[in-house]
Amino acid sequence: MATRQIRFNAFMRPASIHTGAWRYPGAWPDMNFNFAHIKECIQKLEAAKFDAFFMADHMAVLNMPMDALKRSHTSTSFEPFTLLSALSQHTERIGLVATGSTTFDEPYHIARRFASLDYLSNGRAGWNIVTTSNPDAALNFGMEEHMEHDERYKRAREFYDVVTGLWDSWADDAFIRDVENGIFFEPSKMHVLDHRGEHLKVRGPLNIARPIQGWPVIVQAGASEAGRQIAAETAEVVFSGIDNLPDAQALYADIKGRMAKLGRSRDHLKILPGAFVVVGDSVADAKAKKRQLDGLVHPDSGIASLSVRLGHDASGFDLDGPLPEIPESNASKSGRQRIVDLARRENMTVRQLAQHVGGAFGSLEMIGTPATIADQMEEWLASEGSDGFNVMFPYLPQGLDDFVDRVVPELQRRGLFRREYEGATLRENLGLPRPENRFFAGATSESARRRG
Ligand SMILES: Cc1cc2nc3c(=O)[nH]c(=O)nc-3n(C[C@H](O)[C@H](O)[C@H](O)COP(=O)(O)O)c2cc1C
Repeated sequence: MATRQIRFNAFMRPASIHTGAWRYPGAWPDMNFNFAHIKECIQKLEAAKFDAFFMADHMAVLNMPMDALKRSHTSTSFEPFTLLSALSQHTERIGLVATGSTTFDEPYHIARRFASLDYLSNGRAGWNIVTTSNPDAALNFGMEEHMEHDERYKRAREFYDVVTGLWDSWADDAFIRDVENGIFFEPSKMHVLDHRGEHLKVRGPLNIARPIQGWPVIVQAGASEAGRQIAAETAEVVFSGIDNLPDAQALYADIKGRMAKLGRSRDHLKILPGAFVVVGDSVADAKAKKRQLDGLVHPDSGIASLSVRLGHDASGFDLDGPLPEIPESNASKSGRQRIVDLARRENMTVRQLAQHVGGAFGSLEMIGTPATIADQMEEWLASEGSDGFNVMFPYLPQGLDDFVDRVVPELQRRGLFRREYEGATLRENLGLPRPENRFFAGATSESARRRG
């Protein structure tokens, strides 16, 4: 087997991210709130040996213009812990990653929820640390406006220290359960955190034993300077939204370079760009499927999304003409330029561009046969653009079936993807070390004892 293996996370949310997905022929329009469908998908992902299933969270209805929002099936979804706790009882090996907000939640809540999920799943929990990108969330949590970006990241950094400190409240062997003498835990093996920082005050200890994995796997998705630095310091998995190989290589080198400066091994962090994958019998067939899917994005929805991406009202543009010149604006400059370049390069009409942007938000696309998709993935892996992918399926269940039944076997044949899980926990499968307890170094692992 090749030494470097592709890592796969499924970006489910819990349905497809594409806004036309629910209208595709044969797709499940009610996937978001249909537990039987979600369960079927995760079981297929586990049979295909995916590393993890990821459930995002935005703490509010998505902040899109109403013309787009009313047509999007991802505007509402399950609360991640409730969903993943239920799914943990129907799976055995696949990782379960939930978003947890450091802006709108409290570290004590987050620490105990993830510790609980880690026990319920026998060591498969992962925490996607976000500062919450949706400004509307503030309005649901008693605030008038969103906390400022830098401030959010400062709180996030302290939040991480508190949560991991709380997970270390108990030595792994604190719970002696001495039936004869009636002593349930050993008092010297309990640590009171007593944290008093700039943003947070938490006494502790946590009222749950140390998680099976020591700490659930730490995931980050921030792309800014502050986001990259916190990722290099703390993350074990990074989700990125990059759509081309040179930018991906630059991000990869940047984050892994920062890790080296901090004395962290570069293998202890896996970078997974989102990849929107459409599989066909030929490249032309796959492109036709993508066109059909994009065609299901209503023009109102596409134009509203395009306006947001351009930072300019696109509603007056001729739908069947080329993209006009757009004046400078305050919106993300690199994001806007990517859209303008794409329109020019592919000679797209405003309608096509709107459908593209309104569909899968302009993420990295892999559209082709199992062999061409495997080639592309292999190239990204070999040239240090990524350690794997955060796979987005175009429609469900067919898009997922195409991936697990056709792309996964091709990658396995090339020795690039596992045929069996290597370990029992998400950490073991990702090749990540189990963290030492910072207050009780060298104590025996409770989970190792339980399993051993
Ligand atoms: C794959 C992926 C998943 C994300 N999931 C969430 C999420 O569930 N909730 C959220 O508020 N933000 C999510 N984000 C947004 C990031 O947390 C972050 O805010 C964004 O990438 C911008 O980075 P910055 O805040 O460092 O500027 C996600 C981003 C990516 C690329």
